[in-house]
Amino acid sequence: MAEMVKNMELKAIIFDLDGVICFTDEYHYLAWKAMADSIGVPFDREVNNRLRGVSRMASLDIVLERSTESYSQAEKENLANQKNELYKQYLTRITEQDLSPEVKETLLALREKGLKLAIGSSSKNTPMILQRLGLEGFFDAVSDGNNITHSKPDPEVFIKAAQMLGMPAENCLVVEDAVSGTEAGHRAGMQVACLGDASAAGAGEYNMASFGELLTVAQNWK
Ligand code: BG6
Ligand code: MG
Repeated sequence: MAEMVKNMELKAIIFDLDGVICFTDEYHYLAWKAMADSIGVPFDREVNNRLRGVSRMASLDIVLERSTESYSQAEKENLANQKNELYKQYLTRITEQDLSPEVKETLLALREKGLKLAIGSSSKNTPMILQRLGLEGFFDAVSDGNNITHSKPDPEVFIKAAQMLGMPAENCLVVEDAVSGTEAGHRAGMQVACLGDASAAGAGEYNMASFGELLTVAQNWK
């Protein structure tokens, strides 16, 4: 992959949302934990890490792997709704103060360099989160759980983001905290800069300790 993209100019950055732009991943954890507790299914951070980047219904299937019961489709939809209602209650706590100065300043500096900036998230709650963070209308394109049929590690969300920007994949960099999302970026033909879990796993071409390092990545891009 690195061979294919060599010497292409960096023109756009596509950001995952949960765990990259903001820390809603903790709210996902708390909401899944409450839902799992309510039906007596063991749930911990190890299982939670497998849900990063994974769609709501696919996440539920992973949560229910430890259940001794079997659930009908209608029951599963109820459980997923139950989790989402709890999650949305947590989202109402988000204010513009939750956008860290580091993320905000880095985004502005990247834009200043003339780069196009987009969101590539599996979450159907993306519009609400962007609005609460004061980022509604900030990105040049938003590709999210509402416009895809396959979630990460499928590359669809990133391919669609690049299409919305009118950019070839080789000019796009993906920023991800999930191993599944990193795989999605690679399958879309893009280089990936990782944070958090994915960075610790060494999954990307760039494995960063903090969001601000993106400025160095953009500077040294080859
Ligand atoms: C991803 C999260 O961004 O969105 C996953 O990493 C989550 O943990 C997925 O399951 C779907 O989110 P939502 O908000 O549509 O339930
Ligand atoms: Mg994420």
